[in-house]
Amino acid sequence: MTHTTLSVGEAHVPVLLEEVVAGLAITQGDTIVDATFGAGGYARALLAAGAGRVIGFDRDPDAIANGPSLVPHSLQEGGRLTLIEERFSLMEQALRDRDLLPVDGVTMDIGVSSMQLDQAERGFAFSNDGPLDMRMSQSGQTAAEFLNEAEEAEIARVIRDYGEEPRARKVAHAIVAARPLTRTAELAAVVRKALGHHAGMKSDPATRTFQAIRIHLNAELDELEAGLRAAERSLRAGGRLAVVTFHSLEDRIVKRFLRARSGATPAGSRHRPLAAAGPSPSFTSVAKPLSPSDGELARNPRARSARLRTAVRTDAPAWDQEIAA
Ligand SMILES: C[S@@+](CC[C@H](N)C(=O)[O-])C[C@H]1O[C@@H](n2cnc3c(N)ncnc32)[C@H](O)[C@@H]1O
Repeated sequence: MTHTTLSVGEAHVPVLLEEVVAGLAITQGDTIVDATFGAGGYARALLAAGAGRVIGFDRDPDAIANGPSLVPHSLQEGGRLTLIEERFSLMEQALRDRDLLPVDGVTMDIGVSSMQLDQAERGFAFSNDGPLDMRMSQSGQTAAEFLNEAEEAEIARVIRDYGEEPRARKVAHAIVAARPLTRTAELAAVVRKALGHHAGMKSDPATRTFQAIRIHLNAELDELEAGLRAAERSLRAGGRLAVVTFHSLEDRIVKRFLRARSGATPAGSRHRPLAAAGPSPSFTSVAKPLSPSDGELARNPRARSARLRTAVRTDAPAWDQEIAA
């Protein structure tokens, strides 16, 4: 495992930062969970805005190891920053173990950090040749192991479902024909050749395949669903949730979760009229999604598809069921 020391200047540019801080409506002394610490951009802003304590989670050991160096010492004084290497789906247990439940706010900023993308050896980027790795937690199956061992149909399913790639079968076929693959540049070349690529294309055709493999290996959508439920169990009544997503697959999960939990899902139908009598809403004040301002997009084009959804926890018990489809 490599620990790279990063300066704040090189780090991730936080997305929708002001909007997240505003959405959490911090009161002096609040305890806030930053479920995706990354390069600490949100954590710094939350502490500066008056949070008494920030509990930062990240499944990436490098993010946790670098964390203390990314937050000014003055903001960490008095134990105001706690960093935990853990998946956010397990936040409730980790918070309980430290006697920190319930919390006043939870924020999640879903996806990869620029630190992960920019470090070639992590294997997340096709623009930066590196080993085919893509594991956020630096453990488990690598992208190379998946691509070299999985059945063609399984590779096609992943690329279709998580990359929304209309020609997933063609890409999977080309991958299997080119095995073994070991480098991100090799994979990118195989996908571009399969799909056709010419200079001046709006986006690289390999983008969707890389996204898909990353989401699959890290079980990112399952983690997001479980993380939302863990946040629901961890927030106090009146506590706030602020979730930033990076693409529509993720945003849809958050939208459906908040719609169901706030009682806005038409739970009944002609055939199931009584389904409306479900649990009491566990969230309220679900706000319309926010997108980055023109100013933010000019500074950070990577924020293009980001969306922020916020809501306030009610005093009803957490729901004990899967997200309504
Ligand atoms: C987009 S970055 C967050 C950037 C951060 N908001 C900032 O301002 O620097 C997402 C981070 O979440 C982490 N992450 C993704 N899924 C996770 C999960 N299920 N549990 C914990 N951390 C996760 C990634 O390792 C990455 O460091």
